[in-house]
Amino acid sequence: MKKQKVQFPDDFWWGAATSGPQSEGWFNKRHENVMDYWYRVQRNDFFNGVGPDVASDFYHKYKEDFALMKQVGMNSFRTSIQWTRLIKDLETGEPDPEGVQFYKDVIAEAKKNGITLVMNLHHFDMPIELLEKYGGWESKHVVDLFAKFAKTAFECFGDDVRYWTTFNEPMVIPEAGYLYGFHYPKLIGKGKEAVQIIFNINLASAKAIETYRSMKLDGEIGIILNLTPAYPRSESKEDLEAARFADDFFNKAFLDPAVYGTFPPALVDLLKKDNVLWQTDEKELDTIKRNTVDFLGVNYYHPKRVKAPETKREGNWMPDWYFSEYDMPGKRMNPYRGWEIFPKAIYDIAKNVQNDYGNIKWFISENGMGVEGEEKYRDENGHIEDDYRIDFYEEHLAWLNKAMQEGSNCFGYQAWTAFDCWSWNNAYKNRYGFIAVDLNDQSRTIKKSGRWLKDVADNHGFEY
Ligand code: BG6
Repeated sequence: MKKQKVQFPDDFWWGAATSGPQSEGWFNKRHENVMDYWYRVQRNDFFNGVGPDVASDFYHKYKEDFALMKQVGMNSFRTSIQWTRLIKDLETGEPDPEGVQFYKDVIAEAKKNGITLVMNLHHFDMPIELLEKYGGWESKHVVDLFAKFAKTAFECFGDDVRYWTTFNEPMVIPEAGYLYGFHYPKLIGKGKEAVQIIFNINLASAKAIETYRSMKLDGEIGIILNLTPAYPRSESKEDLEAARFADDFFNKAFLDPAVYGTFPPALVDLLKKDNVLWQTDEKELDTIKRNTVDFLGVNYYHPKRVKAPETKREGNWMPDWYFSEYDMPGKRMNPYRGWEIFPKAIYDIAKNVQNDYGNIKWFISENGMGVEGEEKYRDENGHIEDDYRIDFYEEHLAWLNKAMQEGSNCFGYQAWTAFDCWSWNNAYKNRYGFIAVDLNDQSRTIKKSGRWLKDVADNHGFEY
């Protein structure tokens, strides 16, 4: 078939995302976050025992890294400010001068290289002290401490950073930490706590947005959500209901408050009926109502395939009372990460945002393919030939482009990620970067996908 140009706007963002805790390393950090702590006490939970202590050494290598980002054509980059690095006194929000200086240097370096920064404030990195002392996101006091941290960040960097986000994938915090136990504090079946955490994080995001707006800074603030479309197994009433619940709980519980300042009424009714609805009051609901986002970041990796529930409703409340996931025959898989590859979902998400969320402006803030053992794809010049990653990106971008042709208000695409980085469970098992990182000496080499990105960014698209 004859190829056609998949054309993106001239000012489209081409870039990649990472997070402070996954890239910087522990150097000169004031406090420990939950992952740092988990690694210190249970090193064996991490692939090959590799931890966030050095990560990809962004703390020392940020200058080289920005130069490489520019070289692979990136015009935008997202990272996060670590609460545990910026803040000296977690109760007052007083900054740590060394933390301030580090992020100032990073921001200046991005500017020098013509790279637009998106600064995120929370990427799963609750300070361990606040978890131990107050119960972390279960506590409204911690919500207020987060708002103080946000205020400090805006005061220190608000004049130099134009795009802010409050949270990355907030749903992962209750889901992974309190329902299914794959992130610290590794609790399972804590449904009521998870529901309260969903509310509290929405409130924390709204409070940070309120603070930002009160400072009258020249910029915009949003949130980054992992949206996982829930496709039902069949058109049966039961399967459709299960899919609707999964969408309400895993997507809309953050999407609705972020864009509209309200929670999905059907979800609220159900949680109330089951006696697990969050504790709140009119004042907090009003704060959420008044402080919605300027833009959305959407992380997309894989959909959910959903059917009517199989588990019996017993014990603590769990979302599993209302839905089950099923193994759809014939689905395409990434065998390394165990995630389905379904590029059309990016189109479905875009249409949903266009039709049901007022066509709010948004960008893809993560999308990518983790692969184990990429060393075997090195050619004689030492370059990793990751054609599978290029194919993955092109397929997703083609669907995104189709939605944009139909009016979706998408302004950018940031991949996960620029540099192979440490990850919460997998450490360095699965590599995602445009640029390979050698853990022995922290040297970097551009992969074929990095050269591909440069072409795409220069030409505002690709032949497909
Ligand atoms: C996203 C997170 O969920 O997926 C990242 O925002 C994470 O922090 C990425 O690294 C890839 O997932 P994983 O577990 O394969 O690293």
